[in-house]
Amino acid sequence: TYVVTDNCIRCKYTDCVEVCPVDCFYEGENFLVIHPDECIDCGVCEPECPAGAIKPDTEPGLDKWLTVNAEYAVKWPNITIKRDAMAEAKEMDGEEGKFEKYFS
Ligand code: SF4
Ligand code: F3S
Repeated sequence: TYVVTDNCIRCKYTDCVEVCPVDCFYEGENFLVIHPDECIDCGVCEPECPAGAIKPDTEPGLDKWLTVNAEYAVKWPNITIKRDAMAEAKEMDGEEGKFEKYFS
């Protein structure tokens, strides 16, 4: 599966949802997650994210993000259409430790 990681938080560009062939993104207030059982590993979303927040879970060190994606994919509503990015997306792009500070 692919996973959404820290830099999505408070950017939420949503370019990713437009290209996903199986519509497996789920939306929280300031973050999106991928449902790991629905993702077919096609990889097309990864280069679409302006924040570089999407990664394959074959990369090392992503266990935490796999857990977060799996947990919230079953709690949050599905999102299939691109929306406006968050107002603060530009300033927030690249900030460290967003999960600890802002996740919601
Ligand atoms: Fe969707 Fe493909 Fe990205 Fe998985 S890798 S979330 S199936 S676009
Ligand atoms: Fe987030 Fe990137 Fe999608 S910022 S909403 S993972 S395009």
